[in-house]
Amino acid sequence: MSEAQTSLPTLAVLGGTGKEGPGLALRWVLAGYPVIIGSRQLEKAQATAEALSQEVRQYLEAHPEAHPGSITGLENSNAARQADISILTVVAVAHQPALESLKDDLKGKILVDATARVDFRDPRPPAPPAAARLAQELIPEARVVAAFQNVPAHSLKKNLGGSLRADVLVCADDLDAAKAVIALTEAIGLRAYYAGGLDNALVVESLTCLLIGLNKYYGTKTASISISGIPNPAAS
Ligand SMILES: NC(=O)c1ccc[n+]([C@@H]2O[C@H](COP(=O)([O-])OP(=O)(O)OC[C@H]3O[C@@H](n4cnc5c(N)ncnc54)[C@H](OP(=O)(O)O)[C@@H]3O)[C@@H](O)[C@H]2O)c1
Repeated sequence: MSEAQTSLPTLAVLGGTGKEGPGLALRWVLAGYPVIIGSRQLEKAQATAEALSQEVRQYLEAHPEAHPGSITGLENSNAARQADISILTVVAVAHQPALESLKDDLKGKILVDATARVDFRDPRPPAPPAAARLAQELIPEARVVAAFQNVPAHSLKKNLGGSLRADVLVCADDLDAAKAVIALTEAIGLRAYYAGGLDNALVVESLTCLLIGLNKYYGTKTASISISGIPNPAAS
């Protein structure tokens, strides 16, 4: 690992054994971040970490110049405690119980909430408040940031190490926390925009409902959003 990479924050992807979490985790590992996969079961976390390590090894065969970070698997609570920043990717119906069980582990830390409470079979806009607002109410001492709700799991393993044509709206009441998450997002080849406070995340969740509808109508799996009119958001 290079000198610059040693200062990167450790990330925990909680519920990182499903569809969305492993893709995000893999991109962060390839960008040099130390990543912990979290699960309710240690063995499941370790199995996902090992499967992702295998993908990293394959990537290194084609890109020997890369400097990936480490990847390990831990039970969710241990993962959150050891990480600087946690990303919540548990299935949407488990949002509240998962957060309640992790309250003490996430205090004082940045928690990125990727939850979009939309039923794939019957997509409708979710009722307020935003999932991320609920997370903030459940853990007032956490610095909650909403992001990645519109990034399809199917896209994340495409063009590994490169950029993706999917933009990320980042909502938070804590602007410094939002900026930290914008940096994490740009590190994995996605353009990120600060999109206002946590309550705006309800709109972002609702966009996921539109994207599922687009995928169904057009027979795709990778519909995502793209912002125009702001040529260089990274400079802000
Ligand atoms: N899939 C997408 O394309 C996509 C895109 C954008 C955002 N999202 C959001 O990302 C989140 C994860 O989506 P997903 O499609 O990856 O979900 P998923 O594959 O159905 O589930 C993710 C993980 O949730 C954990 N989980 C299941 N039941 C749980 C419970 N009762 N308590 C705690 N954890 C539980 C499981 O981990 P363990 O069994 O290992 O604990 C599972 O691997 C959702 O909020 C979704 O809205 C998904």
